[in-house]
Amino acid sequence: MPRVRFIKENLEVEIEDGQTILAAAKKIHAPEGDRCGGVCACSTCHVYVIEGFAKTSEIEDEEFDILDKAFDVRSISRLGCQAKVHGDIAVEISDESFQAFLDEHPDDQVAALALRAK
Ligand code: FES
Repeated sequence: MPRVRFIKENLEVEIEDGQTILAAAKKIHAPEGDRCGGVCACSTCHVYVIEGFAKTSEIEDEEFDILDKAFDVRSISRLGCQAKVHGDIAVEISDESFQAFLDEHPDDQVAALALRAK
């Protein structure tokens, strides 16, 4: 089973092969935004796949279109709700996504900020 590590938060989780990065984040409450609910209609789940990019699914045109709207897009950018995981990877949640999480989950702000302060 693939493992997903969230670098900035120092969190790691095992998921089923083919589950998304966003599903991994939700499983362990990693602070990744998902304003549209994971239907490829926002860019608040934007992450950087720091290690294991080749172990994620191919990027579809629809994902490219939405990534175009994200901030600070890099060659290792993915939408967490679209990138399926097929091996161990390490991910950095973008600042845009982290801020979206804070906005979406006011009750979890203190805990999320503490994760990044470690
Ligand atoms: S959660 Fe909106 S595009 Fe991924």
